[in-house]
Amino acid sequence: MLQAWVDGELVPAGEARVSVYDRGFRLGEGVFETFRAYGDHVFRLAAHLDRAVRGASFLGFGLDAASLSRAVTATASANLTAHDGRDSVVRLTATPGRLDPETPFPGRAVGGPTVVVTSHPLVVDPEVHRDGLTATLVPWARELPDVKAVSYLAATVAREHARARGADEALLTDPDGNVLEGSSSNVFAVLDGTLVTPPPSAGLLAGVTRGVVLEVAAGAGVPVEERPLSVADLSGADEAFLTATTREVMPLVRVGDDRIGDGHPGPLTRSLHEGYRDEVRREATTRR
Ligand SMILES: Cc1ncc(COP(=O)(O)O)c(C=O)c1O
Repeated sequence: MLQAWVDGELVPAGEARVSVYDRGFRLGEGVFETFRAYGDHVFRLAAHLDRAVRGASFLGFGLDAASLSRAVTATASANLTAHDGRDSVVRLTATPGRLDPETPFPGRAVGGPTVVVTSHPLVVDPEVHRDGLTATLVPWARELPDVKAVSYLAATVAREHARARGADEALLTDPDGNVLEGSSSNVFAVLDGTLVTPPPSAGLLAGVTRGVVLEVAAGAGVPVEERPLSVADLSGADEAFLTATTREVMPLVRVGDDRIGDGHPGPLTRSLHEGYRDEVRREATTRR
């Protein structure tokens, strides 16, 4: 039976409850993190938790990384058998907690933060890495882009917009025609042998996977530039890919009507993905 962590203990997931007065439910306040557990090893746990703690602090509530770490690892381990030992997606949701509805808007906080962790088996369509993904452009960005906030409307609407147009992902763009990020991914392009990705200061989430790919590229001696990436640069790139925790490095082979490179996953994309997998194995082995 699947277990969920709710405010300090594991409970059967189907019986897990949060208050109707929770500020996350009422106001969309809170942060979330999506981790990938390789078996029972949660990759880059500290980097994800650091982002959650910083995001919560920006939203005005405190989270304790050590307690969150226990919650995430306990949930991943508790569900390992239910997941048949497969890799899983672990989701942490943390909100400022309940509000007192009788106090003025937005309602005085009552008690401490709400912390919920769930997990489910990871399913990745093999076509994602074999054939690559397609994307469409949307002319908007996320609110508070460096916070992985519970309120994710700009991203979810963008993804539905992409699906309705037959694309896999939506790329958010700024008014100057620069690509910022995907609805749930970061964007990289290969231009004349240089790996280019927009900087967090452009207004995007500094993805944990993005950070690992930058480390892998630097270790392999690949020239890297963090700079604005125009739509024209991306469309004319030799290769492009998206990064996200659950699906790692995903080749991007089409944007709108434009084919990227020869329309197939490129060699640098593949070698950076291999380097990423090596890093996952290295971390899982050294932490045991
Ligand atoms: C908007 C957005 N950008 C980037 C990412 C990639 O972040 P990470 O590599 O930490 O999963 C995500 C992940 O969900 C996201 O939602």
